[in-house]
Amino acid sequence: MWEAARDLALENPRVPPDVLMRVMGVGGRPAERRRAFPELDETLEAMLATMVNVLAIEVFAAGTFEWGDRLLSDPEVSAEPERAGAMVRCICSDETPHVEYLRTALSEIRARTLVTGDGGTLAGRRVVDALLHRTLRVLTTSRPQEQRADTRASVADAMKRAGAPPRLLEEFDALGSSWNAPLTTGFEPPSGAEAHAT
Ligand SMILES: [Fe+2]
Repeated sequence: MWEAARDLALENPRVPPDVLMRVMGVGGRPAERRRAFPELDETLEAMLATMVNVLAIEVFAAGTFEWGDRLLSDPEVSAEPERAGAMVRCICSDETPHVEYLRTALSEIRARTLVTGDGGTLAGRRVVDALLHRTLRVLTTSRPQEQRADTRASVADAMKRAGAPPRLLEEFDALGSSWNAPLTTGFEPPSGAEAHAT
């Protein structure tokens, strides 16, 4: 659907495969996820971690939807400002149920007690909060830096191939925001449980 919105706004642009790959990100994929709660069933922990990741990504995507709607609804840059903007709003409303069911399911799990592999118990709140903390730390600290470095390397490489003047890279650098990640995620582990937080 994002591609349909792009095609409406930019009149079916031809996107060379290498450009598409660059847009998708050429950096290394994240290392294998470390287990935060090895005492839990591995499949259960993996499912909870995935649910937490998807929820966080969906919430962060709200800013991307606002940006996409604003940009593709702008007649200065969009060939179809009404239809392209409407397409972005449709994608956005399509995501709403994903956010709601994840929020509901994770809230339910957080209020319950989980049984460990050896028959012990773990508070759902401790597990869900630790996973949220880990994901939010990555999404607000290392991930944006990696994505920026990735994009910068792509821009530099494309400029070199095209023989573009170096000032374009300076302009790219000047676009960097001065946003700093909050010091806390709001889901910090209680003291004494730090070993599970990272
Ligand atoms: Fe979704």
